[in-house]
Amino acid sequence: MKRTHQKLPANGAEREALRQKGQFWTPDWIADAMVSYVLQQDEQFLFDPAVGAGAFFLAAYRFGVAAGRTISLAGMEIDPDALGEARQNGISEADLSKVEIRDFVLNPPQRRLSAIVANPPYIRHHRLAAETKAALRLLSARLIGSPLDGRAGLHIYFLLRALELLDEGGRLAFIMPADTCEGVAAPKLWRWITRNYCLEAMVTFTAEATPFPGVDTNPIIVLIQNRPPEQYFFGVRCAEANSDELLSCIQANFAERSYRSLTIHRRELVEGLETGLSREPATNGHRPTFVLGDFASVLRGIATGANEYFFLTTRRAHELNIPGEFLRPAVGRTRDVEGDEINIETLRKLERQGRPTSLFSPDGRAMNQFPGAVQHYLQQIESQGVPQRALIASRNPWYKMETREAPPILFAYLGRRSVRFIRNRAGVVPLTGFLCVYPHRQDTAYIEKLWQVLQHPQTLVNLTSVGKSYGGDAIKVEPRALEKLPLPSDMIHELGLTPITRRLI
Ligand SMILES: C[S@@+](CC[C@H](N)C(=O)[O-])C[C@H]1O[C@@H](n2cnc3c(N)ncnc32)[C@H](O)[C@@H]1O
Repeated sequence: MKRTHQKLPANGAEREALRQKGQFWTPDWIADAMVSYVLQQDEQFLFDPAVGAGAFFLAAYRFGVAAGRTISLAGMEIDPDALGEARQNGISEADLSKVEIRDFVLNPPQRRLSAIVANPPYIRHHRLAAETKAALRLLSARLIGSPLDGRAGLHIYFLLRALELLDEGGRLAFIMPADTCEGVAAPKLWRWITRNYCLEAMVTFTAEATPFPGVDTNPIIVLIQNRPPEQYFFGVRCAEANSDELLSCIQANFAERSYRSLTIHRRELVEGLETGLSREPATNGHRPTFVLGDFASVLRGIATGANEYFFLTTRRAHELNIPGEFLRPAVGRTRDVEGDEINIETLRKLERQGRPTSLFSPDGRAMNQFPGAVQHYLQQIESQGVPQRALIASRNPWYKMETREAPPILFAYLGRRSVRFIRNRAGVVPLTGFLCVYPHRQDTAYIEKLWQVLQHPQTLVNLTSVGKSYGGDAIKVEPRALEKLPLPSDMIHELGLTPITRRLI
């Protein structure tokens, strides 16, 4: 029997097209496990709302052969070309004829479904058309009672629609990015799901075991049954790809057995919702004693809206004759800072490499009040249509740059293995690749103590409890979430660092 194996274009237009349509195929070891979950209890029917190249149909064929059962299949797909691939993969014409070419979320089936399995398209909100977004908003408002945050991607609405159609007693298995549990929309979404359905298990993967090697997402599998909620769910962590242990564990109803590659926790739902369902269970069961917000506040770096015009090399600033009062030392990319300190030498080195280090930072005065060289440059930017760009158009006047005090500590918040705190000894302001950490007290002793705590390995481990995980070891942390970062209390006591609930500067 044929198997689905997708050869991914490394980058470029083809890869972009896959992303636009959300076309990443599920590998067999995952499809087998998910299909086996929804087909338990003698289920004869399976529905896939996003068939693609047919990974779940093929898994259902394999399941049928192994179990001696005939499974009838149906589904939907928006892209007829993907079904061409399914045909080549060996999906029968009879089964393909039961796949409707139609939009599952906006134009759903008119019947209840007892077994739904999906790898929904992971299409982020900014790729969705405005009218689609409006319709999705209405869908969530109708089901949940109020709309989900506008940043929820299409995959979340796939899940909502599927839950709406799930028959009583029916089962659903979805493989989705972890942001489903960690993003801004997650708390409301999961409160609703876990009040109305039974979350049976949440499967997560170590970086080595990821089902989608080379794709920048951290996937999870959600297994839900339409029956009254329970107090517990199973958290399954999978540490080996292409193993059949996940399938065995699902077939054994998560019974405690010893597995080489799986860790299974029976978790309390309340704890899971509090910690984050896709995160490791909280070990102590209660809130951390100290969090970063007790000692500092966090803001994102400056968004210029057009780095190519506002973030300049010193040479360019010099050529333009921009007076020093309109320039601020700045860092842009996280990879421009090696290690955990920025000092004058870091800036000099960047300048030597031709990297920009100066933020052109006009204030809000009228254009004709600036020195001639600044006026001239602003007119030049204007003539390029820059003031009409999204972020810049919302500023008044359009050239008025955001301001920040230079933060004593920065946080490089997205990157593979390079997520870290950085001590700012060069008085720079950061752009959006960093977050600004402002200690509640400005005296050097306080800042240095906090800095020591932030470098502690445990602090970095704790980042996973507040961040959104991506593929590999990449993690992204929003400013409010960073303020919730638990800090090692022993060290805080040892250093005599006192928490201050309000910023005193
Ligand atoms: C991530 S792929 C998964 C395909 C396959 N089930 C698998 O697991 O390998 C998602 C599929 O959903 C399709 N799709 C995107 N938007 C859709 C929509 N609104 N309704 C139905 N299918 C859609 C895409 O064309 C793509 O083939």
